[in-house]
Order: sequence, then structure tokens, then C-alpha cells
Amino acid sequence: MMKSSTKITLIRGDGIGPEISDAVMRILDASGARITYDEVEAGLCCIEKTGQGITPEGMDLIKRNGVALKGPTTTPVGGGHKSINVTIRKALDLYVNLRPCKSIPGIETPFKNVDLLIVRENIEDTYGGIEHMQSADLAQCLRLITRSGSLRAARFAFETARKLGRKTVTCVHKANIMKITDGLFLQAFRDVAEDYKDIQATDIIVDNCCMQLVSKPQQFDVLLLPNLFGDIVSDLCAGLIGGLGIAAGANIGAQSAVFEAVHGSAPDIAGKGLANPTAMLLSAVSMLRHIEQLDVADRIENSVFKVLQEGKLKTRDLGGRASTDDYTRAVIANL
Ligand code: NAI
Repeated sequence: MMKSSTKITLIRGDGIGPEISDAVMRILDASGARITYDEVEAGLCCIEKTGQGITPEGMDLIKRNGVALKGPTTTPVGGGHKSINVTIRKALDLYVNLRPCKSIPGIETPFKNVDLLIVRENIEDTYGGIEHMQSADLAQCLRLITRSGSLRAARFAFETARKLGRKTVTCVHKANIMKITDGLFLQAFRDVAEDYKDIQATDIIVDNCCMQLVSKPQQFDVLLLPNLFGDIVSDLCAGLIGGLGIAAGANIGAQSAVFEAVHGSAPDIAGKGLANPTAMLLSAVSMLRHIEQLDVADRIENSVFKVLQEGKLKTRDLGGRASTDDYTRAVIANL
């Protein structure tokens, strides 16, 4: 019997967000995905209309549906409003950010057979936005790490590793310098590891980790990082597999999950029909797996891999000349 459809919340976002959302929705429709949408505005477009990055009603709708697919939203550097992403992650307690980084056939990079999974703690660390000027000369930012937050992120990493049949979880930290904050994160990781004797637990200092990642990334399996290092290292890992245009992600909490690409709103190419929708599309594939539409998820993923492997229709970020629309049509044709 055909399962009924799932209602998800869609946020198109800013910059290239609306165009890649259109492409993704066309592919989802053509794939037979059993989903319906509640649309919520968030980002600059919402600020211009309502003065808020996301309205309380919008946030309620994300909460009610439990699952959202989100396009990128613009956050001005320096002044201006607080990041909508940070607001959503905190309000829904989306305590981990999950980013698979797996080499895709047909995408040329200096690295072959990369297959790692990044679990980034998503709420704490320096992301509280607790910053102030102590004096005209001295700016201070507060870094907050809790044992409870570190424990649940570590448990998520080990549980996911076990579910996916992965062998090693590596905690990435700077506990040699930040002995108390990163020391707490590392100790929580070691304590949780005691419950997962079937999975190897290792740790590495973040600077060495970066060097190892750009030398021999195949040595890593699951990486667990505090928020700020996780943010930086996951973009580095996106580079290992071919760049931001293909790097998918998900923000996951106990009650809700928001699936979104790693990249931002790419204002430099917005509105030109050049954006690569793959990262948002592969995020939607993870969403389909999350809502247990595995058949459709596989169909879309296989089609994407086929189009990229054939190599005729790549967007510019991957060295091709295809427009967003050309590529979208090719993925639909190969479903
Ligand atoms: P960005 O990821 O938007 O762009 C970096 C470079 O990658 C640009 O040259 C862009 O053209 C290219 N690029 C990104 N996505 C692409 C795609 N799908 N296809 C082809 N090329 C792509 O990062 P940037 O410029 O630092 O940030 C722009 C805005 O996005 C900022 O306001 C930032 O705060 C926001 N942002 C939002 C995120 C989110 O909503 N999840 C995540 C990261 C940044």
C-alpha cells in the first residue's frame, strides 16, 4: 500500500535560495516523493517585510511539522541581524549538524575515496553571540561548553556510527590550549566511548587534523567537533569532495530536523541561473531517508551520480557550462 504523504516546511531563503529551491522541488515532484509543503519565509526577505529574520508563526510551523528543508539565508558580516540559522538551531534545539563528505564519481578532486561523516555540536561554543567590548581596545567573546551538551553530541556520533556500520569516531579538539572548555568536551567524549566498545574512539588536535585531512583524508571515518572547529573543518571537508555546490547537511534535534546545504546564499551568482542545486538536493535526499522514503531517496541520488559521472551537464562551480535549469532537467530525465 502506498504510504501517505509527509508535510514538510520549506524555506526558500535568500540569494540563490529561491532558484535552487525551485530546482529541488521540480526534482522531488518528478521523483514521486510523497511530500507536501508548508512554506515559511526566513532571512533577508522576511526582515524586509516583517522586521524579523523569521516570524514566531514561521518557527511554530517548523516545530509542528518536525521536518524542514531550508535554502540559504543571508547574514550580514559585522553589524546587522543575528544569523537566522543560529536562531532556528537554538529555538528548535537542533544540537548536532551532520555533514556527510563522500567522493562523488565524476567530480575531479586531488582526493579519491573520501568517505567521512562530520558530527558538529551545533548550539554551544562561541555561537551564543555573547561578545562585548571590555574597553576601547579589548573585545571579548564568551565560549560556553557544557558537559550535558558535549555528552549528547558524543552519544549522537557513536549512535550514528553504529547505525551506519562505521568503525571509528575521532574527537577533534584543542584541549592542549583550551584545557577547561575543550578538556570538558574531550572528557565527555571519552566517557560516552565507554558505552560503545564496538567502535574505536580516538582523538586529535584540530590543527593536526586539518593537515591530515588535506594529506590523507581517507584515514578518517566519523569526526566529532565542537561548534566553531566543526564549522571550519566541515567546509574544508566540502573542499575535499569538490566544493560547496555539492556538500549536503542536516541540523538534527530530538524533536525536529532541518535539512540544508552547507553553502550560503552566494550573492555573487544569485539570479543568474548558474547555481548548483546538488547540495540542497542531496540534503533533501537525507531528509527523504529521515522520513523513511528510502526508495525515492535512492532514485534521486542515483540520478545525480549518473549525471555527474557522465560529466556532460555540470554547473560552472564544477568546471562545466550547464545552467541550473539544464542540470535540473538532466537529473529529472535520469530518474
Ligand atoms: P557562500 O557559500 O554563499 O559562497 C561562497 C562561494 O561559493 C561563492 O563564490 C559562491 O558563488 C559559491 N557557491 C556557493 N554555493 C554555490 C552553489 N550552490 N552553486 C555554485 N556556487 C556556489 O558563502 P559566503 O559568500 O561566505 O556567504 C554569503 C552569505 O550566505 C552570507 O550572508 C552568509 O552569512 C550566508 N550563509 C548562509 C548559510 C546558510 O544559510 N546555511 C551558510 C553559509 C553562509
